[in-house]
Amino acid sequence: SNTEVHIGIDRMGMFVPEQYLDVEDLARARHVEPAKFTRGIGQSRMSVPRHCDDIVSMGANAIAEILPDIDIDRLGLLIVGTESGIDQSKSSSLFIKHLLNLANRIESFEIKEACFGATAGLFVAYHYVAAHPDRTVLVVASDVARYGLGTAGEVTQGAGAIAMLVSADPDILVLNDDAEDYSDDINDFWRPNGHTEALVDGKYSTQVYLDFFRHVFDEYRDKTALGLDDFGALLFHLPFTKMGMKALRVALEDADVDDRKRLEHNFEMSARYSRDVGNLYTGSLYLSLLSWLEHADLDQAGSGDGSLAGTRIALFSYGSGAMCKFFTGRIQPGYRRGLRAESHARMLNARKRLTVQEYEQLFDEYYASEDVQTEKPESGFYYAGVKHDIRQYSRA
Ligand code: HMG
Repeated sequence: SNTEVHIGIDRMGMFVPEQYLDVEDLARARHVEPAKFTRGIGQSRMSVPRHCDDIVSMGANAIAEILPDIDIDRLGLLIVGTESGIDQSKSSSLFIKHLLNLANRIESFEIKEACFGATAGLFVAYHYVAAHPDRTVLVVASDVARYGLGTAGEVTQGAGAIAMLVSADPDILVLNDDAEDYSDDINDFWRPNGHTEALVDGKYSTQVYLDFFRHVFDEYRDKTALGLDDFGALLFHLPFTKMGMKALRVALEDADVDDRKRLEHNFEMSARYSRDVGNLYTGSLYLSLLSWLEHADLDQAGSGDGSLAGTRIALFSYGSGAMCKFFTGRIQPGYRRGLRAESHARMLNARKRLTVQEYEQLFDEYYASEDVQTEKPESGFYYAGVKHDIRQYSRA
């Protein structure tokens, strides 16, 4: 065990595309009561990628946000967790590494297990740093969540990326070595080769998510004898915010009033970004973490002195197929250094609101026009189409 070395998340970066769809506009276009989407599903907006936003460009943009804080000489490994792969063989992480001019000696690969991929990456990073405490690892979660126009899953789409620097003595979150895992071969959500949209047994997927959560949550409590009062917040993978709310209800079944109030309040803070962005697949749980860190203290949660330092939190990662992990960590005194709340608020507020017609056109074009030079974003890295079967990237 790593009792001397404290390992965890030192920096967090985020990227979302420059446009969004309001789910009430979507509801009206689909002849659905808007309250079904805003309350029943628990979403407000969803990020919509353009052709120029893919997992490479979004991942590079998320890293670019924290790159000035990273000591490149110590960086040993770059991992991308994704289920929106752009090639059957070559890792998206190599494109990202090249775009960011990172050294050739840095090891790099991609991990897949649906939405669990970034958590797998995070724990590979944890063990890597345990073996080499002087080195750091970049873990990037980058995805485009697509179900298809007019499907039940449509309102639960989204796109974006989260980047995390993992190190010894991190500024944000020290991870504990007490995770509870559970996996089984299940067909709740999958995307066969050649399909540009996920296939999903929606209601079944929500049931498996809750069953898996109940299992690891009970096992964890039996194993550690920790109770709800030991946790400042429970954070969840949020395919849509109502899903996390349902899992929280499972956790709160035998809660007292204080625990319930604290955990419900902190859940709200953790769900703010997801409500505005949608499902990031691999990045979703880490978007919850970021949202909670960047909102909770402003609302007098946590320790009562306006700081979250010292708070123990639990995180539930779920990837269809299915694999889950319940793990915990402790917020560090310097956590504010690792965050960028103002720039994230600006990024979200600066987005352009699409009409449903514009969104549908972007959706249809997204995988359709591989060989054309596409539009550019206002800033940052972007995907510039395919030349000679090779994906091209550039910076605006
Ligand atoms: P649906 O057909 O819209 O479901 O599909 P519904 O008809 O049951 O409605 C949803 C909720 O809206 C219900 O509330 C209704 O009562 C409520 P609930 O009973 O669930 O509390 N409702 C209303 N509320 C207020 N006012 C109204 C109103 N009308 C109805 N007027 C479903 C929903 C989630 C199944 C669909 O969107 C879907 O298939 N989504 C994609 C799959 C998904 O996100 N699954 C989540 C678990 S699996 C997972 O998390 C992994 C994943 O991220 C992928 C990966 O791992 O890679 C997806």
